[in-house]
Amino acid sequence: MSQQALQTLGEFIIEKQDDFKYSTGELSRLISSIRIASKVVNREVNKAGIADIIGNVGNQNIQGEDQQKLDVLANDIFIAALSQREVVCGIASEESDDFIEIKCTENAHLSKYVVLIDPLDGSSNIDVNVSVGTIFSIYRRVTNPGTPVELRDFLQKGVNQVAAGYIVYGSSTMIVYTTGNGVNGFTLDPSIGTYYLSHKNIKFPTSGKIYSINEGNYAKFPQGVKDYIKYCQEEAGDRPYTSRYIGSLVSDFHRNMLKGGIYIYPSTSQSPNGKLRLLYECNPMAFLAEQAGGKCSDGFKRIMEIEPTELHQRVPFFCGSAAMVTKAEEFMTKAV
Ligand code: AHG
Ligand code: MN
Ligand code: MN
Ligand code: MN
Repeated sequence: MSQQALQTLGEFIIEKQDDFKYSTGELSRLISSIRIASKVVNREVNKAGIADIIGNVGNQNIQGEDQQKLDVLANDIFIAALSQREVVCGIASEESDDFIEIKCTENAHLSKYVVLIDPLDGSSNIDVNVSVGTIFSIYRRVTNPGTPVELRDFLQKGVNQVAAGYIVYGSSTMIVYTTGNGVNGFTLDPSIGTYYLSHKNIKFPTSGKIYSINEGNYAKFPQGVKDYIKYCQEEAGDRPYTSRYIGSLVSDFHRNMLKGGIYIYPSTSQSPNGKLRLLYECNPMAFLAEQAGGKCSDGFKRIMEIEPTELHQRVPFFCGSAAMVTKAEEFMTKAV
């Protein structure tokens, strides 16, 4: 099929607007703002080595991580794009201590969405030219329109998400997202700045042979995780499992969703809640995984049912092909 015959992301957004009764076009405008911001971040990522935006800025974010220049730049780019279209009343970001209220002009006081974002996922990969990503999660506010946005607008269970997705700045740049009716992937043609529908209705293979985990932490893993890794390595039968872990959740997730696999960031003796953040990493990836027929839990219960208590809270994360997550959960339950 010629490229010109492929549907563009813009056409897809408009077509899918009909999925929502009484749609006002606000969500379409919101997703379009993410599309635009992703192109700007993509441009910066692609020239990181020559644009003096590698390395860290010299301070730490609320997570206690050294903020990379591209963390901050991506954060600024997405916040600017989301603030200017008056459909978002608040933003929470990995790189901002507190949530940000978006003051809208009087005629846009009905901005009903909040966005939670990991502006640059896999920051440790920036300086070494390995794939990075952006993750976003969209909810309707729970407080009344026209009133100040509050923390409870952000502390919502994952099951309330209206939309979620990621951008992977990899060998090609893609947007993959869901609005609750399946998962679709769009590949950027950088020569004309257009995203084309390249991966329609993505389905997580029910099982697979890839497991993604930082085995450097093995000694600190819960026994159930150690038992599951042993299972992968010894019960493989005719086809051994493959370990693939590149330090960027978005990239590991994306590969596993296309080929079958499981990504695990468990609790450790050092970090009892693991590392990944519930609101802007685990919930959006869980929404995508489930929409594609996969599964996502904290090793015991569904991630999207967890009642959030803090903006930057961490949870253990088991996500991928349904049969693999179920098997890992069996080992976790047995080891309790
Ligand atoms: P971020 O760069 O947004 O802080 O996220 C990094 C996350 C995730 O993308 C990745 O899989 C994981 O941290 C890697 O952690 P370790 O280096 O501890 O394995
Ligand atoms: Mn970080
Ligand atoms: Mn991240
Ligand atoms: Mn990040």
